Amino acid sequence: MRVKFKPGAKAYLDNLHFHTHVDDFQLDRLKNIKSPLVLEIGLGKGDYLLAMAKAYPDYFFMGIELNASVLSVAAQKLANANLENILILTGDAKYLLPKLKKESLSYIILNHSDPWPKKRHEKRRLTHPSLIKKYYDLLKPGGELIFKTDNDDFAEYSYATLKEAPFSSLLFNRDYKGDAPFDAKTEYEVRFLLKDVKIKMITGKK
Ligand SMILES: C[S@@+](CC[C@H](N)C(=O)[O-])C[C@H]1O[C@@H](n2cnc3c(N)ncnc32)[C@H](O)[C@@H]1O
Repeated sequence: MRVKFKPGAKAYLDNLHFHTHVDDFQLDRLKNIKSPLVLEIGLGKGDYLLAMAKAYPDYFFMGIELNASVLSVAAQKLANANLENILILTGDAKYLLPKLKKESLSYIILNHSDPWPKKRHEKRRLTHPSLIKKYYDLLKPGGELIFKTDNDDFAEYSYATLKEAPFSSLLFNRDYKGDAPFDAKTEYEVRFLLKDVKIKMITGKK
């Protein structure tokens, strides 16, 4: 997913009613939202969020993405779809998590997160134990963490870190066929499926 730096991306995003920067995000923004909440971290070009928000109009989807140029690509697709059940944020998820209410999320979604294979970068992995604990606290009882990846080592690492958290059920599918009830394909997933790479899926229920 190479997206060149887009000079107008920030200004474009700032004019959208369904976008905010993580620094400006306040919990009030979600005050009147009664729907089950879903958070996708690292939404990239937004294919998952778009498909899911269309398929599940009774859920509210939040997506956060570090890279404003990438997010502006997602934002254009989402704007064209005229959805009312979305909020996208520019920024690092680590600054959003402490702003959310404990036990407020029905799903946390990690789709093809960057694997950061070098040991010295382990802390940057979105399944680092310090983050898994935060995800667990933010999920409602019965809520679910859904993780998909194309990378074998990252899948095994993530399964190991998730096993340390007290999820009531943890499932690891090393050859996920895209048939889970609450799911949609992402840009990365499609790209890796075309190369015959197996998709790995881990789900953990609180
Ligand atoms: C490999 S891409 C996958 C994009 C998309 N989920 C997909 O499956 O096509 C990972 C994305 O996560 C974003 N990202 C990485 N760390 C993040 C963080 N801490 N907070 C928010 N986004 C992050 C990156 O900028 C990148 O766009």
